Amino acid sequence: MEVSIYKDHDTLSSHAAGEIIGMVARKPDAVLCLATGDTPRLTYSLVVQQATARKVDFTRCTFIGLDEWVGISPENEGSCHYFLRHHIFAPLQIAPHQIHLFNALSGDLAGECGLMNRVVKQRGGIDLMLVGIGMNGHIGFNEPGVAPDQYAHVVTLDEGTRTVGQKYFREQTVLTEGITLGLKHVLEAEKVLLLANGVKKAEVVRRALEEEVTTALPASIIRKHANSRVMLDEPAASALTRGETKSR
Ligand code: F6R
Repeated sequence: MEVSIYKDHDTLSSHAAGEIIGMVARKPDAVLCLATGDTPRLTYSLVVQQATARKVDFTRCTFIGLDEWVGISPENEGSCHYFLRHHIFAPLQIAPHQIHLFNALSGDLAGECGLMNRVVKQRGGIDLMLVGIGMNGHIGFNEPGVAPDQYAHVVTLDEGTRTVGQKYFREQTVLTEGITLGLKHVLEAEKVLLLANGVKKAEVVRRALEEEVTTALPASIIRKHANSRVMLDEPAASALTRGETKSR
């Protein structure tokens, strides 16, 4: 694991966008798995800008959804579907056959998980996974206490995730379950970028990077990945105390 600390969210986002563009430029048929949320929003808009300016071809990439709120329609602005469509797929003109997202409205969610596991396997695994970190240390919807040896699965969301998740929705929304790739997908991805910005993430980032590696704080598992990079802005890095985690 490598830790990179940037002056601010703009600089962090520009470097994260460079990682995605670089991956696709090197490997045009890359399999990408991208988180949604406030953290990567700017990164994706810079990916779109850079891809257009540098004429990077995304037509052979595959996009794998990291997670989704169970029972929430893709048309709902708070859904992960909507976010990715709006910020990545539409501006980059990604074709439907390139996109594999969880159908969180399915009556057979276990079947959805199996399907996603098969897609990831058939595509030869994930080349680049970009994740955020929740206020409770989750990655995707891998909540504290998750089993480390799982692929895609359905989870009961933590109280905190249900509350914090309201920020994505226009109206108060009942959020009870999530469907997500598992920590095994994270550990098996070729490269993982974990992004965090803002002082509100400082304490959970410190715990993930400096306390024990435990599924009680799922994001700490990133330290077990040899080719992972934690990208922080200075406020998110402000609680770090150790030299190795403070490295630039
Ligand atoms: C979203 C996801 C979540 C978020 C995390 C941080 O697809 O997987 O784990 O990455 O909750 O969210 P923000 O970036 O909104 O702070």
